[in-house]
Amino acid sequence: MPNDPYLDASVVWRIKSGTLDLHEAGYRTTKEAILSSGLAMEVTGLISAGKEADVYLALYRDAPIAIKAYRLYRSSHRGGGPVKLDSTGWLAAHEFEMTRQAWKGGCRVPAPARRVENMFSMRYLGDENGPAPRLHEIRPENPRALLDEVLRGVEALAGAGVVHADLSDFNILVHDGKPWFIDFSEAIRVDRTGSAPWMRLEEARVALDRGMGALRVYFGRLGVEVESEPFVSRVLSSLDRFGVLHD
Ligand SMILES: Nc1ncnc2c1ncn2[C@@H]1O[C@H](COP(=O)(O)OP(=O)(O)O)[C@@H](O)[C@H]1O
Ligand SMILES: [Mg+2]
Repeated sequence: MPNDPYLDASVVWRIKSGTLDLHEAGYRTTKEAILSSGLAMEVTGLISAGKEADVYLALYRDAPIAIKAYRLYRSSHRGGGPVKLDSTGWLAAHEFEMTRQAWKGGCRVPAPARRVENMFSMRYLGDENGPAPRLHEIRPENPRALLDEVLRGVEALAGAGVVHADLSDFNILVHDGKPWFIDFSEAIRVDRTGSAPWMRLEEARVALDRGMGALRVYFGRLGVEVESEPFVSRVLSSLDRFGVLHD
Protein backbone atom coordinates (compact mmCIF):
# COMPACT_ATOMS: atom_id res chain seq x y z
CA MET A 1 0.00 0.00 0.00
CA PRO A 2 1.33 3.42 -0.77
CA ASN A 3 1.18 5.97 2.03
CA ASP A 4 1.43 3.34 4.70
CA PRO A 5 3.93 5.48 6.61
CA TYR A 6 2.39 8.11 8.80
CA LEU A 7 2.47 11.66 7.65
CA ASP A 8 5.40 13.86 8.38
CA ALA A 9 4.86 15.89 11.56
CA SER A 10 4.94 19.16 9.65
CA VAL A 11 2.11 17.99 7.43
CA VAL A 12 0.07 16.84 10.42
CA TRP A 13 0.58 20.26 11.96
CA ARG A 14 -0.58 21.99 8.80
CA ILE A 15 -3.73 19.85 8.75
CA LYS A 16 -4.45 20.57 12.41
CA SER A 17 -3.83 24.27 12.06
CA GLY A 18 -6.13 24.40 9.08
CA THR A 19 -3.53 25.59 6.58
CA LEU A 20 -3.85 22.36 4.63
CA ASP A 21 -7.34 21.40 3.59
CA LEU A 22 -8.08 17.73 3.23
CA HIS A 23 -11.77 17.75 2.61
CA GLU A 24 -13.15 14.81 0.73
CA ALA A 25 -14.81 15.88 -2.51
CA GLY A 26 -18.58 15.96 -2.11
CA TYR A 27 -21.28 15.09 -4.61
CA ARG A 28 -21.16 18.40 -6.41
CA THR A 29 -17.36 18.48 -6.67
CA THR A 30 -17.20 14.92 -7.92
CA LYS A 31 -19.95 15.63 -10.40
CA GLU A 32 -17.94 18.57 -11.73
CA ALA A 33 -14.83 16.42 -11.90
CA ILE A 34 -16.70 13.79 -13.91
CA LEU A 35 -18.02 16.40 -16.35
CA SER A 36 -14.75 18.25 -16.75
CA SER A 37 -12.81 15.03 -17.25
CA GLY A 38 -15.07 14.22 -20.19
CA LEU A 39 -16.07 10.85 -18.73
CA ALA A 40 -19.73 11.84 -19.10
CA MET A 41 -21.91 14.63 -20.41
CA GLU A 42 -24.41 14.47 -17.58
CA VAL A 43 -24.43 12.98 -14.11
CA THR A 44 -27.85 11.60 -13.32
CA GLY A 45 -27.47 10.40 -9.76
CA LEU A 46 -25.72 8.27 -7.20
CA ILE A 47 -26.10 4.50 -7.43
CA SER A 48 -24.05 3.60 -4.40
CA ALA A 49 -22.02 5.32 -1.71
CA GLY A 50 -19.38 2.94 -0.43
CA LYS A 51 -16.53 3.06 2.02
CA GLU A 52 -13.84 3.71 -0.55
CA ALA A 53 -15.75 4.70 -3.63
CA ASP A 54 -19.05 6.03 -4.93
CA VAL A 55 -20.76 4.80 -8.05
CA TYR A 56 -22.66 7.30 -10.20
CA LEU A 57 -25.15 6.89 -12.98
CA ALA A 58 -24.29 9.20 -15.86
CA LEU A 59 -24.92 9.77 -19.52
CA TYR A 60 -22.33 9.57 -22.27
CA ARG A 61 -24.04 11.16 -25.23
CA ASP A 62 -27.43 9.59 -24.59
CA ALA A 63 -26.27 6.25 -23.28
CA PRO A 64 -26.31 5.44 -19.57
CA ILE A 65 -22.96 4.57 -18.03
CA ALA A 66 -21.73 3.85 -14.54
CA ILE A 67 -18.83 5.81 -13.08
CA LYS A 68 -16.92 4.65 -10.07
CA ALA A 69 -15.13 7.46 -8.27
CA TYR A 70 -12.72 6.53 -5.53
CA ARG A 71 -12.40 8.72 -2.50
CA LEU A 72 -9.17 10.60 -2.34
CA TYR A 73 -8.26 9.92 1.25
CA ARG A 74 -8.55 7.24 3.80
CA SER A 75 -8.17 8.68 7.25
CA SER A 76 -8.04 7.14 10.66
CA HIS A 77 -10.45 8.72 13.06
CA ARG A 78 -8.56 7.94 16.21
CA GLY A 79 -8.71 11.35 17.77
CA GLY A 80 -5.42 12.95 18.64
CA GLY A 81 -3.24 10.34 16.98
CA PRO A 82 -1.29 10.81 13.79
CA VAL A 83 -3.42 11.26 10.71
CA LYS A 84 -3.01 8.38 8.35
CA LEU A 85 -3.84 9.11 4.79
CA ASP A 86 -3.97 6.75 1.91
CA SER A 87 -4.49 8.03 -1.56
CA THR A 88 -6.87 5.59 -3.15
CA GLY A 89 -6.67 7.08 -6.61
CA TRP A 90 -4.37 4.27 -7.65
CA LEU A 91 -7.13 1.76 -6.85
CA ALA A 92 -9.12 3.15 -9.76
CA ALA A 93 -6.24 2.35 -12.09
CA HIS A 94 -5.92 -1.14 -10.67
CA GLU A 95 -9.63 -1.89 -10.84
CA PHE A 96 -9.86 -0.49 -14.35
CA GLU A 97 -7.00 -2.68 -15.57
CA MET A 98 -8.35 -5.80 -13.88
CA THR A 99 -11.84 -5.26 -15.24
CA ARG A 100 -10.37 -4.66 -18.68
CA GLN A 101 -8.32 -7.84 -18.53
CA ALA A 102 -11.44 -9.83 -17.59
CA TRP A 103 -13.50 -8.12 -20.26
CA LYS A 104 -10.87 -8.77 -22.97
CA GLY A 105 -11.00 -12.43 -21.92
CA GLY A 106 -14.73 -12.49 -22.69
CA CYS A 107 -15.93 -12.59 -19.08
CA ARG A 108 -19.26 -11.22 -17.92
CA VAL A 109 -18.07 -7.95 -16.41
CA PRO A 110 -19.19 -4.40 -17.23
CA ALA A 111 -17.15 -3.26 -20.23
CA PRO A 112 -14.76 -0.63 -18.89
CA ALA A 113 -14.62 2.54 -20.96
CA ARG A 114 -12.10 5.10 -19.69
CA ARG A 115 -10.21 6.04 -16.59
CA VAL A 116 -9.26 9.53 -15.49
CA GLU A 117 -7.40 9.95 -12.21
CA ASN A 118 -9.46 8.36 -9.42
CA MET A 119 -12.52 7.66 -11.59
CA PHE A 120 -13.44 5.25 -14.34
CA SER A 121 -16.47 4.69 -16.50
CA MET A 122 -18.00 1.38 -17.50
CA ARG A 123 -21.11 -0.14 -18.93
CA TYR A 124 -24.17 0.44 -16.79
CA LEU A 125 -25.84 -2.81 -15.81
CA GLY A 126 -29.50 -2.21 -15.27
CA ASP A 127 -32.39 -0.48 -16.97
CA GLU A 128 -34.48 2.64 -16.62
CA ASN A 129 -35.93 1.29 -13.37
CA GLY A 130 -32.57 1.11 -11.68
CA PRO A 131 -29.31 -0.81 -11.47
CA ALA A 132 -29.29 -4.59 -11.68
CA PRO A 133 -29.81 -6.12 -8.24
CA ARG A 134 -26.98 -7.66 -6.31
CA LEU A 135 -27.14 -11.38 -5.73
CA HIS A 136 -27.59 -10.51 -2.06
CA GLU A 137 -30.90 -8.81 -2.78
CA ILE A 138 -32.59 -11.53 -4.72
CA ARG A 139 -33.92 -15.02 -4.13
CA PRO A 140 -33.11 -16.88 -7.32
CA GLU A 141 -35.76 -19.23 -8.64
CA ASN A 142 -33.17 -21.83 -9.46
CA PRO A 143 -30.19 -21.30 -7.14
CA ARG A 144 -28.42 -24.46 -8.36
CA ALA A 145 -28.36 -23.22 -11.95
CA LEU A 146 -27.24 -19.76 -10.85
CA LEU A 147 -24.45 -21.25 -8.75
CA ASP A 148 -23.26 -23.22 -11.78
CA GLU A 149 -23.18 -20.01 -13.79
CA VAL A 150 -21.25 -18.24 -11.05
CA LEU A 151 -18.69 -21.05 -10.86
CA ARG A 152 -18.31 -21.05 -14.63
CA GLY A 153 -17.80 -17.31 -14.38
CA VAL A 154 -15.08 -17.66 -11.75
CA GLU A 155 -13.33 -20.24 -13.94
CA ALA A 156 -13.64 -17.98 -16.95
CA LEU A 157 -12.08 -15.13 -14.97
CA ALA A 158 -9.17 -17.36 -13.99
CA GLY A 159 -8.82 -18.35 -17.63
CA ALA A 160 -8.58 -14.65 -18.46
CA GLY A 161 -5.83 -14.29 -15.85
CA VAL A 162 -7.85 -12.67 -13.08
CA VAL A 163 -8.82 -13.87 -9.63
CA HIS A 164 -11.48 -11.72 -8.02
CA ALA A 165 -10.28 -11.37 -4.45
CA ASP A 166 -13.50 -9.91 -3.05
CA LEU A 167 -16.07 -12.33 -4.38
CA SER A 168 -19.38 -12.27 -2.56
CA ASP A 169 -23.11 -11.91 -3.11
CA PHE A 170 -22.52 -8.14 -2.93
CA ASN A 171 -20.14 -8.05 -5.88
CA ILE A 172 -22.21 -10.10 -8.29
CA LEU A 173 -25.08 -8.39 -10.09
CA VAL A 174 -27.85 -10.34 -11.73
CA HIS A 175 -28.61 -8.79 -15.09
CA ASP A 176 -30.75 -10.40 -17.79
CA GLY A 177 -30.85 -13.52 -15.65
CA LYS A 178 -27.06 -13.91 -15.65
CA PRO A 179 -24.44 -13.23 -12.98
CA TRP A 180 -22.10 -10.30 -13.71
CA PHE A 181 -18.94 -9.75 -11.72
CA ILE A 182 -18.09 -6.25 -10.48
CA ASP A 183 -15.70 -4.57 -8.03
CA PHE A 184 -12.25 -5.75 -9.08
CA SER A 185 -10.42 -3.39 -6.73
CA GLU A 186 -8.65 -6.23 -4.95
CA ALA A 187 -8.34 -8.58 -7.91
CA ILE A 188 -5.05 -10.27 -8.67
CA ARG A 189 -3.46 -11.19 -11.95
CA VAL A 190 -2.68 -14.86 -12.12
CA ASP A 191 -1.12 -15.08 -15.54
CA ARG A 192 2.36 -14.19 -16.62
CA THR A 193 2.36 -10.64 -15.28
CA GLY A 194 1.66 -11.56 -11.68
CA SER A 195 4.25 -12.25 -9.01
CA ALA A 196 6.35 -15.45 -8.89
CA PRO A 197 4.23 -18.51 -9.77
CA TRP A 198 4.20 -20.08 -6.34
CA MET A 199 3.39 -16.82 -4.54
CA ARG A 200 0.69 -15.85 -6.96
CA LEU A 201 -0.98 -19.24 -6.69
CA GLU A 202 -0.88 -19.04 -2.91
CA GLU A 203 -2.46 -15.60 -3.03
CA ALA A 204 -5.02 -16.91 -5.48
CA ARG A 205 -5.84 -19.81 -3.17
CA VAL A 206 -6.45 -17.51 -0.21
CA ALA A 207 -8.58 -15.20 -2.34
CA LEU A 208 -10.61 -18.03 -3.88
CA ASP A 209 -11.15 -19.74 -0.54
CA ARG A 210 -12.42 -16.52 0.96
CA GLY A 211 -14.75 -15.79 -1.96
CA MET A 212 -16.09 -19.33 -2.05
CA GLY A 213 -16.69 -19.09 1.71
CA ALA A 214 -18.93 -16.06 1.15
CA LEU A 215 -20.78 -17.83 -1.66
CA ARG A 216 -21.17 -20.96 0.43
CA VAL A 217 -23.00 -18.92 3.07
CA TYR A 218 -25.26 -17.29 0.48
CA PHE A 219 -26.14 -20.47 -1.41
CA GLY A 220 -26.30 -22.50 1.81
CA ARG A 221 -29.21 -20.34 2.94
CA LEU A 222 -30.96 -21.29 -0.28
CA GLY A 223 -30.37 -24.96 0.41
CA VAL A 224 -27.59 -25.45 -2.15
CA GLU A 225 -24.28 -26.80 -0.98
CA VAL A 226 -21.12 -25.34 -2.49
CA GLU A 227 -18.27 -27.79 -2.69
CA SER A 228 -15.56 -25.23 -2.67
CA GLU A 229 -12.43 -27.30 -2.01
CA PRO A 230 -12.46 -29.40 -5.20
CA PHE A 231 -13.49 -26.35 -7.18
CA VAL A 232 -10.65 -24.17 -5.84
CA SER A 233 -8.14 -26.97 -6.42
CA ARG A 234 -9.32 -27.42 -9.99
CA VAL A 235 -9.05 -23.72 -10.75
CA LEU A 236 -5.61 -23.53 -9.16
CA SER A 237 -4.26 -26.50 -11.04
CA SER A 238 -5.54 -24.99 -14.27
CA LEU A 239 -3.39 -21.97 -13.42
CA ASP A 240 -0.36 -23.98 -12.41
CA ARG A 241 1.49 -23.77 -15.68
CA PHE A 242 4.85 -24.55 -14.10
CA GLY A 243 3.71 -27.39 -11.89
CA VAL A 244 4.72 -25.68 -8.65
CA LEU A 245 1.82 -27.06 -6.62
CA HIS A 246 2.22 -30.60 -5.38
CA ASP A 247 -0.84 -31.66 -3.51
N1 LIG B 1 -21.53 -1.17 -13.83
C1 LIG B 1 -22.49 -1.04 -12.90
N2 LIG B 1 -23.79 -0.98 -13.26
C2 LIG B 1 -24.76 -0.86 -12.33
N3 LIG B 1 -24.54 -0.78 -11.01
C3 LIG B 1 -23.26 -0.83 -10.59
C4 LIG B 1 -22.18 -0.96 -11.50
N4 LIG B 1 -21.02 -0.99 -10.80
C5 LIG B 1 -21.38 -0.88 -9.49
N5 LIG B 1 -22.72 -0.79 -9.35
C6 LIG B 1 -23.49 -0.64 -8.10
O1 LIG B 1 -22.68 0.05 -7.15
C7 LIG B 1 -22.46 -0.77 -6.01
C8 LIG B 1 -21.05 -0.57 -5.50
O2 LIG B 1 -20.12 -0.94 -6.49
P1 LIG B 1 -18.78 -1.69 -6.11
O3 LIG B 1 -17.90 -1.71 -7.32
O4 LIG B 1 -19.09 -3.00 -5.48
O5 LIG B 1 -18.17 -0.67 -5.06
P2 LIG B 1 -17.68 -0.83 -3.55
O6 LIG B 1 -16.18 -0.76 -3.67
O7 LIG B 1 -18.26 0.35 -2.87
O8 LIG B 1 -18.17 -2.15 -3.01
C9 LIG B 1 -22.75 -2.18 -6.48
O9 LIG B 1 -23.20 -3.00 -5.44
C10 LIG B 1 -23.84 -1.99 -7.51
O10 LIG B 1 -25.09 -1.88 -6.87
MG1 LIG C 1 -18.49 -3.99 -3.74
